[in-house]
Amino acid sequence: MCGIVGVVGKPAKDIILSGLTNLEYRGYDSAGIYLNDLNGHEYLTKAVGRISNLKEKLTPDEEGLVGIGHTRWATHGKPTVDNAHPHFDETKRFYLVHNGVIENYAELKEKYLQGVKFHSDTDTEVVVQLIGKIARDKNLDGFSAFKEALKLVKGSYAFLLVDNTEPDHVFIAKNKSPMMLGIGDGFNIIASDAISVLDQTKTFVDLQDGDVGDITKDSYVIETIDGKKVDREPHVLNIDPNAASKGTYEFYMLKEIDEQPGVMRHISQDYLDDNNSTKVDPKIAAAVAESDRIYILAAGTSYRAGLVGKHLFEKYADIPVEVGLASEFGYHFPKLSKKPFFIFLTQSGETADSRVVLKQVNERHLPSLTMTNVEGSTLSREATYTMLLKAGPEIAVASTKAYTAQIAVQAVLAKAVGEKKNIQIAKDFDLKHQLALAAVGMQQLVDGKEKIDELAKKYLANTRNAFYIGRGIDYAVALEGALKLKEVSYIQTEGFAAAELKHGTIALIEKGTPVIALINDPATADLTRGNIREVESRGANVMVFAAKEFAQVGDDVVLPEIDYYLSPLLTIVPAQLLAYYASKNKGLDVDKPRNLAKSVTVE
Ligand code: M6R
Repeated sequence: MCGIVGVVGKPAKDIILSGLTNLEYRGYDSAGIYLNDLNGHEYLTKAVGRISNLKEKLTPDEEGLVGIGHTRWATHGKPTVDNAHPHFDETKRFYLVHNGVIENYAELKEKYLQGVKFHSDTDTEVVVQLIGKIARDKNLDGFSAFKEALKLVKGSYAFLLVDNTEPDHVFIAKNKSPMMLGIGDGFNIIASDAISVLDQTKTFVDLQDGDVGDITKDSYVIETIDGKKVDREPHVLNIDPNAASKGTYEFYMLKEIDEQPGVMRHISQDYLDDNNSTKVDPKIAAAVAESDRIYILAAGTSYRAGLVGKHLFEKYADIPVEVGLASEFGYHFPKLSKKPFFIFLTQSGETADSRVVLKQVNERHLPSLTMTNVEGSTLSREATYTMLLKAGPEIAVASTKAYTAQIAVQAVLAKAVGEKKNIQIAKDFDLKHQLALAAVGMQQLVDGKEKIDELAKKYLANTRNAFYIGRGIDYAVALEGALKLKEVSYIQTEGFAAAELKHGTIALIEKGTPVIALINDPATADLTRGNIREVESRGANVMVFAAKEFAQVGDDVVLPEIDYYLSPLLTIVPAQLLAYYASKNKGLDVDKPRNLAKSVTVE
């Protein structure tokens, strides 16, 4: 949520605009930029809506050797030009951009900023006004005033600050919001996400919570708020910059759906050896094997991947699993088992709701693992162990390849734990072969995308609502299929355990209501067919995605062969495509659905 890019030591405008464009996927509703040419000229420009609106407002002579830019996703105050960042203090000495939420902004305003004239409704402006006030009252230089202010601020933040009395510096601070420092030759760059500035540098410093920094074109000093120096070594990030580009695709979402066969192969190569044994850190397998219950915590799509993980861990690792929505769990901890092990599923590794739980897990000194797509992300650093999803950068707001990667990596861990416990079915579980089947099956399904486009055109073009139904593991996929469809097409869609419909929701089925039925579960395939007949007889337009062995003439998608426990890897593909085409055919911005952000760093 929100994106920040700062540059010092190089013409900053285009780098910032391109970086912000690369961060568009995080979601935003306004944008702004501050530039200083180090020759007495400074420029502040802001616009509501897209970055293209900001570009239109910028004149060619507005350039700077130092600059900070921001895309804002409104939390405090509406998306207006005044509320857009950068914000400035009363004397227009300090300019600040901020990603995060200041919890005590009202208190700070009341206590320290009486009589100060504000121009926005934001929590961020309170901070920059506070910095200005402290600098004036105590006659401090910018960096000292910044650190003094930070001692009073409570909340999450990634801040970039410019003091126009020493404009060749950018001051930074990080707490609970992502921020990386990129090291260049004669310049430095700061961004919410390394991917956004990979065309400038591949050398990065991972900043940690509590870090504040003074960045110039050829130096960086990182310290604590109390002024204690900390060492933060740069490292080279091994990411292919093309992985984050759209190539010939119109939307990232389709590119990422299409990439799933490759992701399965990548996971297989990295986590399984040629003899089908798992290559998982033995400490992780041992820690999970010692536990008497696994708690999987996540949000959104990751939570739904966790529901599939429950089936995998219970089957192959023989450990009971509880799956929780992080936002609920964090404030209502259940009675835990005697030897719990916590798994955090998170594509971004930054989700605030999940962090709340992890914090408490750490306070209780309990073991934890983050499965994430982002190396060095906050949840990865804060958990005991990390397993990477290896899905490559996921840019579209709607998560697709990270979901299937989460399922595959959970399968790897379930097998590793089962092997550690000497469980025969885990040893016999030919995951290498199954992931190969998944890759081939996914390819077959994405190759058949035109058929799904036709289904979207036929059944979803004019509907206001839709349902997914399934039993067993298909129920978990029904929940994810419904989330995908609703978030990108705005069709109100619910996922149901197929038999539950008749206990109330079937009242909503009328002529033309789309119902997508998923059939992979050997125990209930016939029963789900019965549920299909129930909705069909009430006028529903039913689309059936069925495993080859249960498929019947007339089914819309026949799912290629795979182990039942990994069937979600295939079942979800036509569901993702259906969501994609429903959105695209309506002319919507598939990659950036309204009101949504890629990385949800507020609770
Ligand atoms: O980065 P995370 O996996 O922790 O994010 C969790 C959810 O915010 C995310 O899955 C969200 O539901 C996506 N929009 C789903 O497509």
